[in-house]
Amino acid sequence: MPDTITLQVARYRPDTDAAPTMQEYVVPLRQEWAVLDGLNYIKDQLDGTLSFRWSCRMGICGSCGMTVDGDPALTCGTFLADYAPGPVRVEPLANFPVIRDLVVGIDDFMRKLPKVKPWLVREDEPGVADVEFLQTPPQLDEYQQYSMCINCMLCYAACPVYAIEPDFLGPAAIALAQRYNLDSRDQGAHQRMDVLATAEGVWACTYVGECTSACPKGVDPAGAIQRYKLTAATRTLRSFLPRGER
Ligand code: SF4
Ligand code: FES
Repeated sequence: MPDTITLQVARYRPDTDAAPTMQEYVVPLRQEWAVLDGLNYIKDQLDGTLSFRWSCRMGICGSCGMTVDGDPALTCGTFLADYAPGPVRVEPLANFPVIRDLVVGIDDFMRKLPKVKPWLVREDEPGVADVEFLQTPPQLDEYQQYSMCINCMLCYAACPVYAIEPDFLGPAAIALAQRYNLDSRDQGAHQRMDVLATAEGVWACTYVGECTSACPKGVDPAGAIQRYKLTAATRTLRSFLPRGER
């Protein structure tokens, strides 16, 4: 393995630059170094003007997502040695506006997420504060996978529908809605229906499945969306039945 590897890093200040450019940096190539370690080496040793986000370095905070050699990835969990001898291209996540260099704006997601009420909705409050809501292991299994989402936005960067349909709620918002819809303690599924069973909700998805392939936490947003399509279609069909048979 060589001692160094070249990172080709996207640089862009939208307020002053006409278009993004690529800048090359040579960083140490160490077996245990992630792409994020290379970026931090650049920031600390070579060029303090490079901007990127990160926090936990352990695949938990979801803030270090970038495009690495064309694919959306958590840079703290993507290792330089896998790209040797390089070079490695590091660009901002696709489908989001660039604020600066590798930092993107996720306002669109933050605006859409509350629409699906990603919290436990109870119709019998204030009982929540007074009682214990028991849940069996199989009931936990129903939604646990979807609760692993870290809001990293890799699925939005991978989604070809979100790229051309900016009104699409998107994979993570729908997966998080399902996380609560499938929770035995939740009573808000019918409230989320108005948002999910729409042209901007699950029906926008053409089931390309790139979101699930890109997800670093095994969430399977594509599966969540298809499952919800079945729920929505079943409810629509039931509405045609006589009231007593629904
Ligand atoms: S579903 Fe997966 S890829 Fe999408 S935001 Fe959540 S953790 Fe990231
Ligand atoms: S730095 Fe937190 S997920 Fe990568």
